[in-house]
Amino acid sequence: MNIGIIGAGHIGGALTRRLSALGHNVFVANSRGPESLAGLAQETGATPVSVQEAARKGDIVIVTIPEKNIPKLPRDLFDGVSDDVIVIDTGNYYPQQRDGRIDGIEEGTTESRWVSQQLGRPVVKTFNNIYADHLLRKGQPAGTPGRIALPVAGDDSEAKATVIKLLDGLGFDGVDAGTIDESWRQQPGTPVYAADFDADGVRQALSQATQERKPEWRAAKADTTRV
Ligand SMILES: NC(=O)c1ccc[n+]([C@@H]2O[C@H](COP(=O)([O-])OP(=O)(O)OC[C@H]3O[C@@H](n4cnc5c(N)ncnc54)[C@H](OP(=O)(O)O)[C@@H]3O)[C@@H](O)[C@H]2O)c1
Repeated sequence: MNIGIIGAGHIGGALTRRLSALGHNVFVANSRGPESLAGLAQETGATPVSVQEAARKGDIVIVTIPEKNIPKLPRDLFDGVSDDVIVIDTGNYYPQQRDGRIDGIEEGTTESRWVSQQLGRPVVKTFNNIYADHLLRKGQPAGTPGRIALPVAGDDSEAKATVIKLLDGLGFDGVDAGTIDESWRQQPGTPVYAADFDADGVRQALSQATQERKPEWRAAKADTTRV
């Protein structure tokens, strides 16, 4: 497949490495421009591109940048991009450590619904609950006992099925985690977050999640930063 990746940090870098090694055509972008990605390109064979090109080159486009920077992406990023193109959101909201306050999320919108609103596109939420290093190193063949499973939330069943196939190629089971409005079940602080469960464990953890946002995952009261 052709895969655009916006963000070349921990997760974007791991996905560039793994997806390129699997034979996908990877087009990767960051905020500093393609020249700054020469090393990653040389290592992996991926093509460094602008953010706009990454959104236009992929059958799948993975957005993997800090939540607070989502609104800084070009407003017209997906203008003219076919509706068939699947956009994956790997993001997590870290108000106290990184992102400052995002009002929509604090008011109860799921993190990925908020991202989808900013991008003006439906998204599929996955890769958000696994450490980048585990994504890079812990994939295993299908059928391996204890194979790590990742929740996949989204409003389009076909798009989720395509993403679950992509995960399988990377060495992970995919578990349908419901719609984007239900994707609070896999956000930071939930039982499935960073837990590396297998498919049964992921299903159980998703069912045990509670919707209330815990204080450690809320913006500090004094935080006046606004995104
Ligand atoms: N780290 C993990 O283990 C992990 C696990 C699961 C999910 N996540 C989530 O996935 C997202 C990415 O995390 P990360 O740890 O990979 O981040 P990271 O290591 O800090 O890398 C961020 C990447 O995003 C790029 N970027 C930032 N702003 C941008 C913009 N406006 N336009 C284009 N590119 C931009 C940066 O490019 P420059 O360097 O050029 O600025 C960098 O390549 C976050 O929401 C995070 O919470 C992380």
